Amino acid sequence: MTDTKKAANQQWGGRFSEPVDTFVARFTASVEFDQRMAHQDIQGSIAHAKMLTSVGVLTAAECEQIIQGLTEIATEIENGEFEWSIELEDVHMNIEARLTDKIGITGKKLHTGRSRNDQVATDIRLYMRDEVDFLLAELTRLQQGILTLAAKETDTIMPGFTHLQTAQPVTFGHHLMAWYEMVQRDYERLIDCRKRINILPLGAAALAGTTYPIDRYMTAELLGFERPTYNSLDSVSDRDFAIEFTSTASIIMMHLSRWAEELVMWASAQFNFIFLPDRFCTGSSIMPQKKNPDVPELVRGKTGRVYGHLTSLLTLMKSQCLAYNKDNQEDKEPLFDTVDTLKGSLRAFADMIPAIQSRKEYMYEAAKRGFSTATDLADYLVRKGVAFRDAHEIVGKAVGYGVKENKDLSEMTLAELQEFGDMIEQDVFEVLTLEGSVAARDHIGGTAPEQVRKAIERANADLDARNA
Ligand code: ARG
Repeated sequence: MTDTKKAANQQWGGRFSEPVDTFVARFTASVEFDQRMAHQDIQGSIAHAKMLTSVGVLTAAECEQIIQGLTEIATEIENGEFEWSIELEDVHMNIEARLTDKIGITGKKLHTGRSRNDQVATDIRLYMRDEVDFLLAELTRLQQGILTLAAKETDTIMPGFTHLQTAQPVTFGHHLMAWYEMVQRDYERLIDCRKRINILPLGAAALAGTTYPIDRYMTAELLGFERPTYNSLDSVSDRDFAIEFTSTASIIMMHLSRWAEELVMWASAQFNFIFLPDRFCTGSSIMPQKKNPDVPELVRGKTGRVYGHLTSLLTLMKSQCLAYNKDNQEDKEPLFDTVDTLKGSLRAFADMIPAIQSRKEYMYEAAKRGFSTATDLADYLVRKGVAFRDAHEIVGKAVGYGVKENKDLSEMTLAELQEFGDMIEQDVFEVLTLEGSVAARDHIGGTAPEQVRKAIERANADLDARNA
């Protein structure tokens, strides 16, 4: 066997007596997908080189050369001029080989005191930190969008549902602020997840640490990490931060899918509660009248793939003994697709939500149907001294009568209502109106327009503080 063949892979080919099978090379390579982390890989290498220089492992001149070479490589990648090679397996070895091409022997010194195991763990964390920061900004934009719409809808009355049956009237603004609260928790979860991402594994080397006098605190600081990790074995094998992120992403998608479901229903001719601008919809090739709410439908559908990625990652980690195993290479595609799906879905919603227009008349009409103020009548009777259970019974009978006569409670005459309870007086009509019903729920967390305005104010102050 010739030397060139033997050294099929110059980075680790030393002990091999035959080149790796071509199929195996392709099968085990990750460069097609992990090149997405090229920027972070270079960033990590530059910090590593600076640290090695400061502890005397590299000379200042070598460090200069390395940084210069890596910077040029970054430009080549950016301009699409970089030639990625499957034979070089992954993003790390592709970049390192190119560096050696460029600067010769000094390029080979960069890998001193590190391994691809801690290198890849570092790259993923850097990559995720960038993406999480972007996603946090998108969540904020979505929250702002919700507030924009909610501010227009503080007094808009719609039916509130339980079991998708008309329950009690609510304000549309209140419904929207329920969404806001969900995103708020998503935001907090992501912030929390970021804390565990932002820790530096570099220095763990292959699994046990390194014999060089490295300064991991320095590398951590250079890369903006909170601190170095505390256990080398854990550092190279841990991917629970990725699982945590995907689980947070799953919860976000679950929330989006719930709103998507509501938007799809509300945009239907049967509900007709909202108008979705045409730019978020598409038509049908056969039915000329169709305007389909594709964006919410797709987001609802994409939720499934993110759940799938969570299951993939959990299963990937399950039963893995310490420390690094090649299994972990499979973490990237689910993670990347989770990021892409989440970014797309959040962008779509952040653009779409503030552009929604309510159809107030239809919402109001719908709220009037289904005896949505029945609880208000019961509460009214309680105030007149009737026990709640008896009041419930009285209102039940009045509703039964209304169903038969096709009349809402507010449409009955006083005499009709008094058939069910002689304590009912003229003032009952103040509570039987939709406006009276919502206005009466005037406490923190309630649906009264006054409370919705306060909730929006509070939220705006929170967002201002966040952006300050
Ligand atoms: N491409 C690998 C991954 O994504 C990098 C680490 C490989 N380490 C190794 N010793 N084979 O996990």
